[in-house]
Amino acid sequence: MKRKLSLSKVYRLLEPGPVVLLTTARRGRANVMAMSWHTMLEFEPPLVGCVVSNRNYSFDALRLTRECAINVPTVELAAKVVKCGNTSGRRRDKFTAYGLTPVPASLIEAPLIAQCYANLECRVVDSRMVRKYNFFVLEVCRAWIDAAVRSARTIHHRGRGEFMVAGRTIRLPSRMK
Ligand SMILES: Cc1cc2nc3c(=O)[nH]c(=O)nc-3n(C[C@H](O)[C@H](O)[C@H](O)COP(=O)(O)O)c2cc1C
Repeated sequence: MKRKLSLSKVYRLLEPGPVVLLTTARRGRANVMAMSWHTMLEFEPPLVGCVVSNRNYSFDALRLTRECAINVPTVELAAKVVKCGNTSGRRRDKFTAYGLTPVPASLIEAPLIAQCYANLECRVVDSRMVRKYNFFVLEVCRAWIDAAVRSARTIHHRGRGEFMVAGRTIRLPSRMK
């Protein structure tokens, strides 16, 4: 027996991927926000689509510098991720406030976050859908991974402060890369 689901809750079923920390830097000032509305668009070069609301301080930094880093945290950082998603860099330095360590990236100005197990240096390659949807297409131009982390326990947003933690890994035959 199924019931109608409010359209406002549809995203909770489909929301993809792990919650990530998006870092930007504009005029030498770095910032970080939580982001879960992102999607893979291409394998190689890796293209990632993401929605960054124009209400966020990060929006202008991304739109004007056309650079950012996607930092992938694990469950140990969950509380800090939520803080980054509930405060604005307009008024505070979230790195200092929440004890996140910015480290220089190799190709972009935006910093990487040391505590995240993976870091993706990205450039905006298509902004045609920014005006209508706040949707940016990013190309990952360099990627970093902590080789010591085997099965990363990433966090996945289910709305209203609920997160699923990635757990058991299963292997099945697949032709996907
Ligand atoms: C779990 C979580 C996921 C979020 N995902 C997104 C997202 O995909 N896109 C977005 O624009 N804002 C998202 N937000 C909200 C921003 O992180 C939030 O508005 C933040 O305060 C923006 O920071 P800024 O003003 O420093 O850029 C999310 C927040 C949380 C807690």
